[in-house]
Amino acid sequence: MHGNAFDLSLYGLFLIHLKCSSIAGFKIIGHDSTVMKGGNTTLFCHLTETEENITHIIWQKQTKGNPHSFFIIHNDGKTEHRKDLQDKVKFIGNFKENNGSIQLPGMSLLDDGIYTCIFNTFPSGQILTNISVTVHVPPAGKVTGSTHVSDHYDVTLASCVASNARPAAEVLWRLGALNDSLRTETSSTQHSDGTVTVVTNILGAPSKHLNQKKIQCVVKHSTLTKQLELDYVINVHYPPEVVKIIPDDPTEAEEYHCLVDCNPTPTSYIWIRVNGSTPHSEGNKLFIPKSSSDLNGVYICTASTEYGSVSGVLYVDNTGSADVCQDLFISSCAILGLLWCLFCTVSRVLTFY
Ligand SMILES: *[C@@H]1O[C@H](CO)[C@@H](O)[C@H](O)[C@H]1NC(C)=O
Ligand SMILES: *[C@@H]1O[C@H](CO)[C@@H](O)[C@H](O)[C@H]1NC(C)=O
Ligand SMILES: *[C@@H]1O[C@H](CO)[C@@H](O)[C@H](O)[C@H]1NC(C)=O
Ligand SMILES: *[C@@H]1O[C@H](CO)[C@@H](O)[C@H](O)[C@H]1NC(C)=O
Ligand SMILES: *[C@@H]1O[C@H](CO)[C@@H](O)[C@H](O)[C@H]1NC(C)=O
Ligand SMILES: *[C@@H]1O[C@H](CO)[C@@H](O)[C@H](O)[C@H]1NC(C)=O
Repeated sequence: MHGNAFDLSLYGLFLIHLKCSSIAGFKIIGHDSTVMKGGNTTLFCHLTETEENITHIIWQKQTKGNPHSFFIIHNDGKTEHRKDLQDKVKFIGNFKENNGSIQLPGMSLLDDGIYTCIFNTFPSGQILTNISVTVHVPPAGKVTGSTHVSDHYDVTLASCVASNARPAAEVLWRLGALNDSLRTETSSTQHSDGTVTVVTNILGAPSKHLNQKKIQCVVKHSTLTKQLELDYVINVHYPPEVVKIIPDDPTEAEEYHCLVDCNPTPTSYIWIRVNGSTPHSEGNKLFIPKSSSDLNGVYICTASTEYGSVSGVLYVDNTGSADVCQDLFISSCAILGLLWCLFCTVSRVLTFY
């Protein structure tokens, strides 16, 4: 009971205090502000419902927890600058109307913080309010990545960086159909100037199926009217695996093209004719005039890259209809491929019966 009475008396005091200020009728109005780095900001501060005489309006800034006064407005309208903000500050209020608003141009990250607007009144003393000023910095967005050699182990395929933003930017990847095979990992670094760099990596095993797939990084930030959309194309190197030899014309072929599935494209193509002289070729193209049946036979295209080589077989028979027989086999198994091609030919002959 005694405790309750004590509490009540405390409440009573508190209420009386509130009532007092309400009788005096002070009301100080300030607005928190958010500004883009380099921009101008207005700090609004207005004392209302007072009959008191105001001697000064003082603006302070909290620096490392200690307030320091940087701007003083006297009742005769004269202003006084102090400390770091110097003459950047401009009084835009009206002393007679108890309007202490100021303008701060060219805001830097150092200008971020808590400002205090103080009205020095007589006889009540200081009436003040805190105004928080937040300086925002837009991020610089960038996507980086490198070429990977196809493998089964996860690597960082690409990184999306939103650097030196305040507050931290939101960074995400749009993966489309790849979102089941790739995953993301985000980390952020806080800089001493108050900005934050966010990095979102995209991880996955660099399989050949990812090669040339397009993904997109999206950077969102309050300072950006439009989110940043940064495209990236995955590049995976993989050895040659499949050769296709296709005629330039299905019935009247005179030229055959050796097509290889690999990345990068083959550095060399070698055409040979089995049991014959070097055929006429240029890069991945083999030339066989259809009139010359003496050029009939078995041809092999071997394509090489720094990751390996692969060969394909072509059977040319210009006496009947030109025929293409292909297969894939690695160069060390050329003989097997040759047998397969002969088998193709035989089975084709058999199907005529
Ligand atoms: C900021 O203020 C300065 C001078 O006070 C003025 O020259 C400039 O145009 C203002 N900038 C913006 C974006 O309002
Ligand atoms: C305010 O100042 C005026 C003129 O100096 C004076 O007449 C008045 O009494 C002052 N009011 C208070 C509340 O001190
Ligand atoms: C105080 O002054 C500023 C700048 O002139 C003005 O924009 C603002 O509306 C004024 N505030 C009040 C409450 O009159
Ligand atoms: C203003 O902020 C300072 C520190 O940031 C704090 O000590 C003080 O109590 C605050 N005053 C008001 C009226 O909120
Ligand atoms: C992939 O995207 C689809 C459609 O947007 C979504 O339903 C699914 O949950 C996503 N999967 C992953 C692993 O994010
Ligand atoms: C190549 O020559 C060898 C020996 O002369 C022969 O056995 C083989 O059948 C020939 N191959 C082709 C495809 O003509």
